[in-house]
This record gives sequence, structure tokens and C-alpha cells, in this order.
Amino acid sequence: MQQAQTTRITHTMDRPHRDTIFLEDARVLGLEAFPAHQYQLRLEAPRCAARATPGTFIHLQCATGIAMRRPLSIQRADPAAGWIEILFKVIGTGLRNLTQVLPGQTLSLLGPIGQGFRPDPSRPLALLVGGGVGMPPLEFLAERLRADGRQAWRPLAFFGSEAPFPFKAAHADTPLHGLDHRINACHPVLERLGVPSRLASLADFDGCYRGYVTDLAGEWLAAQHAETRERVALYACGPQPMLQAAARLARDFDLPAQLCLEEYMACAVGGCAGCAVEVATSSGSTMRRVCVDGPVFEARSIYPALFAAG
Ligand SMILES: Cc1cc2nc3c(=O)[nH]c(=O)nc-3n(C[C@H](O)[C@H](O)[C@H](O)COP(=O)(O)OP(=O)(O)OC[C@H]3O[C@@H](n4cnc5c(N)ncnc54)[C@H](O)[C@@H]3O)c2cc1C
Ligand code: FES
Repeated sequence: MQQAQTTRITHTMDRPHRDTIFLEDARVLGLEAFPAHQYQLRLEAPRCAARATPGTFIHLQCATGIAMRRPLSIQRADPAAGWIEILFKVIGTGLRNLTQVLPGQTLSLLGPIGQGFRPDPSRPLALLVGGGVGMPPLEFLAERLRADGRQAWRPLAFFGSEAPFPFKAAHADTPLHGLDHRINACHPVLERLGVPSRLASLADFDGCYRGYVTDLAGEWLAAQHAETRERVALYACGPQPMLQAAARLARDFDLPAQLCLEEYMACAVGGCAGCAVEVATSSGSTMRRVCVDGPVFEARSIYPALFAAG
């Protein structure tokens, strides 16, 4: 097996990011297609796999003729085997080209990039709310929390999609307190890992909650005792309206919340400020780069007006 070539990126980045983002010729190990133009890609990228944490992402070359890389969240990483997985939904030219890759081919990969989720040990009940292609980093978070032997984390995942889910939903055997037993469709991999999950969609998918994923999470939260809610922290990734709804949930139920943002990116390594967003800090508002200062931010810092109004 040919080893992936690795080079350390040291230019255009601020000091805190030096020696943490790598450029690798990642070898394609497999590509699996799912309905609605969704694909899961496994790449041999040992240096990226060794450092990847939930919420970090890669910047991937999709074809030799396309100069702009595409940012994609890391869905899973196996540091021992040296691979990572990503899940993507085709929007345009770049990702469409990525559906043509063949096993053995190499793709230039930059990663892992960004500041991922920072789970709060004082709140072991990690409520993961993911929408569409916002699901992958939360699957990664659920798996890593489950594998963390130092702390008794209790992740619980609610995922929503209007397109068919990029996996075959399983039937949850254990009921979730506060939810109708007919809402029983769950994520198969998380179920096998012992992480409870439920699925939501406005489409009429079997066993799914009929509505938005944040409404499902809200119903669950409303049914919990105050002592349970005091142990909950919210982690969300998905389209912007979903993130705003997740921030509202955090405000209404007084939960700490971290949001994983998706912004249009150019360099993705902190050099161009093309991804900057306004963030509230204790000393006023300031601009932060989503690629290297995020993509994960506190909900309060992204939606300060929402919390002020609450
Ligand atoms: C941190 C981060 C993580 C992401 N994780 C995932 C993921 O796990 N799975 C997934 O399917 N998608 C993810 N996205 C969105 C994904 O990067 C875009 O959908 C993708 O770049 C579109 O490329 P395209 O070639 O299909 O579309 P095109 O329309 O050809 O892309 C045109 C240009 O717009 C940019 N662009 C288009 N949509 C977006 C967007 N929503 N965010 C940022 N740039 C965009 C592209 O980079 C490209 O430069 C993520 C985005 C960010 C910023
Ligand atoms: S994309 Fe260039 S600084 Fe973030």
C-alpha cells in the first residue's frame, strides 16, 4: 500500500495554527452513494486522522481542473488505521467531480482545520442536534464521547433531513422519556454504539418525528425534569435557520450551546478573512474567521440579540 505523502503547512496561518494543519495526498479508499446525491468518502490521510477532533474539517481538492477546494466536516477518523470519512451532498461542480473518484486515486487534502466542539464535563448529557450535512460532525462527537473512558458522557442525538437520510434508519428498541413511542427511527451506527438517537423530517419517513429537528429536541427538553436539564449542553450543526432555532432552544431552556457554522471559504487557513463573521465578546463585538477561530462558536456569541431579548 502506497503511503500518503505529507507536508506541513506553515505559511499564511497565525501562530496557534502552525503545525496543526497538514497537506496530504490522501488516497481514496472507498466511495459509497446514498439517495439524494449524498456520498460517503473514506480517505487515507494518517496525519489528519491522528489530529482530527469533532467539529474540525478538511479543505479538499475535488478534481485537478478545479482550483478551489471545498470545506467538508470530518465525520469519522480512525487514527490507528490512518483514515478519515466525510459525508457530502452534491451542490455544484466541485462535489459533483468528487463523485467520480476511484479507489487508489489521490486527492490533495488540507486538515484537520479549525477549533472543534469543546464538550463541557459539568454537563455530561450532550444533546446533539444536526440537520442535513450538519449531521457528520455530530456523529463524530457522539462516537468520541462514547469512547471517552475518563467521563460518563451521555450523548443523545436528534437528526433531521428533508432528503432521504444517508443511511438506512434502524428501529430504536429503548423508548425515550417524553417522546411518543411511534417516533422510533434512529441512526444505525449510533444505536449499535449505545447512543440513543431519533430522526425528524417534514417528509413522511417511517418512524420519524414529523417536523423540524429543533422542535423534536424542544419536545424532549420540555418533558425532562429540571435536574436533568441542568446536566444538558447543546451542540448543533446544520443550515443557518436551524442553528438560529437551536440558539433559541438554548435560550428558552437555559442551556450552554455550541454551534458549528458553515461559511463560504476561500483559503480556509486563516489568511484571507473571507469567512469572517461578527462575534460578541465580553469586550464588545469583533470579527472572527470561521475557518480557524471556529467553525464552532458559543451560540450566545453568534446570536447575542436573541439572548439579550430573552
Ligand atoms: C466548515 C464547513 C464544513 C462543511 N461540511 C460539509 C459536509 O460535511 N458535507 C457537505 O456536504 N457540505 C459541507 N459543507 C458545505 C460544502 O462545503 C459546500 O456545500 C460545498 O463547498 C459546495 O461545493 P459544490 O462544488 O458542490 O458547489 P458549488 O456551487 O460549485 O460551489 C461553489 C463555491 O461555493 C462554495 N460553497 C457553496 N456552498 C457553500 C457552503 N454551504 N459553505 C461554504 N462554501 C460553499 C464552494 O466552496 C465553492 O467555492 C461545509 C462547509 C463548511 C464551511
Ligand atoms: S477562508 Fe480565508 S480566512 Fe477563513
